[in-house]
Amino acid sequence: MDLAVDTTSRYAAARRDPALVVLEGFHALKHALRFGAEVLDVVAAADHALGDLTARLAPELASRIGALVTTTVSAAVFATLCPRPPQTRVVALARRPRHDPAAVLAQPGDGPVILLEDPRTMSNMGACVRVAAAAPDVVGLLTTGESDPWNPAALRGAAGLHFALPVARATGTEPTDRPLVAVDPDGDELGTTAIPPRALIAFGTERYGLSDALLDRAEVRLRIPMRPGVSSLNLATSVAAVLFAQSRA
Ligand SMILES: C[S@@+](CC[C@H](N)C(=O)[O-])C[C@H]1O[C@@H](n2cnc3c(N)ncnc32)[C@H](O)[C@@H]1O
Repeated sequence: MDLAVDTTSRYAAARRDPALVVLEGFHALKHALRFGAEVLDVVAAADHALGDLTARLAPELASRIGALVTTTVSAAVFATLCPRPPQTRVVALARRPRHDPAAVLAQPGDGPVILLEDPRTMSNMGACVRVAAAAPDVVGLLTTGESDPWNPAALRGAAGLHFALPVARATGTEPTDRPLVAVDPDGDELGTTAIPPRALIAFGTERYGLSDALLDRAEVRLRIPMRPGVSSLNLATSVAAVLFAQSRA
């Protein structure tokens, strides 16, 4: 088969394959490799700078990136591989890890699990994963609802950091001993009530906020202070604010 047609059809098929993920851009590839992903191959546009990017941003990965099967394609073929081709002119395929939400919740230790209730915006969900991955003590991130947290746009928003901690879709009804903390604009001011160890920290859907079902179950409700007249913060900004406050507590 023609190399260009083969590359385009392989990446299109990979987007539909629940066992694979498409990593869009060098940063996603870099983080995936740093956090143990099984990367299958790389495709780069003819004007890529994979060597320079590696030397500048991830020199410790030089031998691993150099050992990956890398196909170079024209800019026109590269443009068929992603809805928005990344500026770094690199995409890659990796195997998708599967995490059992019950096992994520059952992890030992005091670290919190983040719960996103029915998130709708993929890039926002990715930004939440990125923030959670950066917080050293967060042990996992779960989502409820229809959206797949491993969607390529979410992976891109997370710069590939889904591989840094378990990320999985949950029903929200998994049994857990974790105290539920609801982050909600009507809660107690952040910093006045402690977040308990092993918390399951829940954030609501972008338009409607947390459901009554989760609010009613919560042991603690926390509000991030805002200027009067502001209705709410962006979802990922809220996750960042709470995790930063928690790290300083
Ligand atoms: C965009 S907001 C949802 C807005 C929704 N209209 C509401 O009033 O909750 C998405 C989520 O971010 C969190 N959030 C945003 N601003 C917040 C604040 N000031 N205090 C606490 N949580 C906040 C909540 O978890 C909220 O459910």
